[in-house]
Amino acid sequence: MATVFVSGTLPGDGVAALRASHRVVQAEDGIRSAAFADCRADVEAVVALLTDRIDAAFLDASPRLRVVANVAVGVDNVDLPACRARGVIVTNTPDVLTEATADLAFGLLLAAARRIAEGDRLVRAGAFTGWTPTFMLGTRVHGATLGIVGMGRIGSAVARRARGFSMPVLYTQRSRLDATLAEGATYVELEELVTRADFVSIHCPLTPATTHLFDEGRLARMKPGSVLINTARGPIVDEAALGRALEHGPLAAAGLDVFEHEPVIDPSLLTRPNAVLAPHIGSADRPTRQAMASRAIANVLEVLAGRPPVSPIG
Ligand code: GLV
Repeated sequence: MATVFVSGTLPGDGVAALRASHRVVQAEDGIRSAAFADCRADVEAVVALLTDRIDAAFLDASPRLRVVANVAVGVDNVDLPACRARGVIVTNTPDVLTEATADLAFGLLLAAARRIAEGDRLVRAGAFTGWTPTFMLGTRVHGATLGIVGMGRIGSAVARRARGFSMPVLYTQRSRLDATLAEGATYVELEELVTRADFVSIHCPLTPATTHLFDEGRLARMKPGSVLINTARGPIVDEAALGRALEHGPLAAAGLDVFEHEPVIDPSLLTRPNAVLAPHIGSADRPTRQAMASRAIANVLEVLAGRPPVSPIG
């Protein structure tokens, strides 16, 4: 029986299954909790959240750790080389959250383009005084060009949704895809994508190379009147520069589910009516979150049983 630390409350009955064969310590406040400090000398597995920073210091203070099972597809909260150097296996939860995240990206795209959140605020404020031909005009979605940055599972799922809106799709990523995998999308370099796309949706992982990929200069080169969607990771976009691009152009709007310093959000975004702000809920539909929890727990159970995990990183 191994000691497993579960860093938060998870949906579904996966933790109960874990308790059947292991000692489980669970805490609301993550790996920095007193509960973790009390058991860390024994912990062999951590079910980690994306809000937990798994770094070298954490690993050094957890000498028996064998597996970090992140309840997320992104693993930018985990120092992968430090884990590799110590023989700690890292796992994530790909596939199960693809469609939910693509749904939210498309929801933000529609909400930002057609000013749905802004309109909702206006109605609640009692400022809807009746229909006029020029009231709350937005950006046309149908037939507009969509640019996808990172054509992995989620980017491809967004491209599939775009077909229903007759949107030509451009994509960019490190390597060009075989045409059969590209969902009818056309490969272009990032610079060309940002100057041609009416909508740009970000789906790449956060790495040193993608940090501030959308900086002041790149935001300034985006097509006038275009809309930026980010459901990947906040630091891919320079948030203060985005606030300026929304205020002075070239952007018409943005739809954001992730932020540079969550849960803090740059004040320039909070005051922009053309920024639709969601509280990191990309994968937050009930079946998806249950499936993510089950996958993370399955990964732990496999490693503790001496078998390869379902979804290892690297
Ligand atoms: C959520 O943000 C994830 O990476 O799964």
